[in-house]
Amino acid sequence: MRYTKIYGTGSYVPDKIITNEEMTKFVDTSDEWIVSRTGIKERRIVTDQSTLDLAEIAANRAIESSSIDKNKIDLIIVATVTSDYAFPGVSNLLQSRLGLDNVMAFDINAACSGFLFALQIADKMIKSESYNYALIVGAEILSRLTDWRDRNTCVLFGDGAGAMVIGKSKTNKIKDIITASKGDTDFLLFSKNPDIKDPYVNEISSQDHIHMNGSEVFKFASRIMPKTIKKLLERNKLNINEINYIVAHQANLRIIDKSARDLGIGMDKMFINIDKYGNTSAASVPIAIDEAIRSEKIKRDDLFLTVAFGGGLTWAGALIEY
Ligand code: UT7
Repeated sequence: MRYTKIYGTGSYVPDKIITNEEMTKFVDTSDEWIVSRTGIKERRIVTDQSTLDLAEIAANRAIESSSIDKNKIDLIIVATVTSDYAFPGVSNLLQSRLGLDNVMAFDINAACSGFLFALQIADKMIKSESYNYALIVGAEILSRLTDWRDRNTCVLFGDGAGAMVIGKSKTNKIKDIITASKGDTDFLLFSKNPDIKDPYVNEISSQDHIHMNGSEVFKFASRIMPKTIKKLLERNKLNINEINYIVAHQANLRIIDKSARDLGIGMDKMFINIDKYGNTSAASVPIAIDEAIRSEKIKRDDLFLTVAFGGGLTWAGALIEY
């Protein structure tokens, strides 16, 4: 039986910091409201970089920390909702930037759960012995889709990228992954593509923004995150106390806090960086895992859980021994 493990992780956020105070120049909001309702103090946004640029820096950092010859990578998956082009995908351009040959590269869109969906796909492709080493990236420029006049959404999001190199292993380290979807027919969280522009449609085409029913998404997230964790524990016959650490999608500090209470654990077991970056969608989980590893909150052989939810609606979780 072939197993998989994490070889390396990396992440990158752009230099430009937008504090809550600066947000008050665009919209009717306050530092007090944003911090108390979300836990966000500041976020990063790009000025002249592309999603590919962010992905490339995070990918190089992950490859560097993996200590494997990058030419061994035979699969690249990029999770994003903010690809620079309709096509080619960020993954295709990344393959070229990294100078890799003989690679299968493709993008996926599962919103904020995208990175864990990509992990699930890569894990299975390696376990099936079709591929050996995968570079998985979550990269987003959410500021591209943000309506900077809408206080309900613009304070929440940020830009960034996270990456991971996984590959074949003799020991079973990436132990279990759950991925799931429920079609959002109520349109709780979405952003439309530009309108059709054929000669028979008399509309001006423009890029849509993010639309969200915050309180409904909040209720969904607060329910699905602990439920997914409990399911992973149950099917792996584990107790929450046997888990060293939890890395959850950074969407709202209150959602993470509610999940911790539901699971009967302290916030000291939950990774937090939402205060610095806001919600970076598909980049949120890999940035958080990378920072948790680099700050030694997750150490070698630690058992950790990671969990995400997002537009789609989608949700996912993974049980990993580092
Ligand atoms: O990756 C997944 C993506 N999304 C999420 O995870 C988001 C999940 N939802 C949330 O995080 C929360 O629902 C929000 C942070 C978006 C909103 O927090 P809330 O406690 O659910 O607030 P609310 O939507 O119930 O709004 C309360 C009030 C409203 O005013 P009124 O109608 O009561 O007068 C809003 O207009 O807060 C107002 N409000 C704001 N006030 C100041 C909404 N946004 C802001 C703002 N600054 N930025």
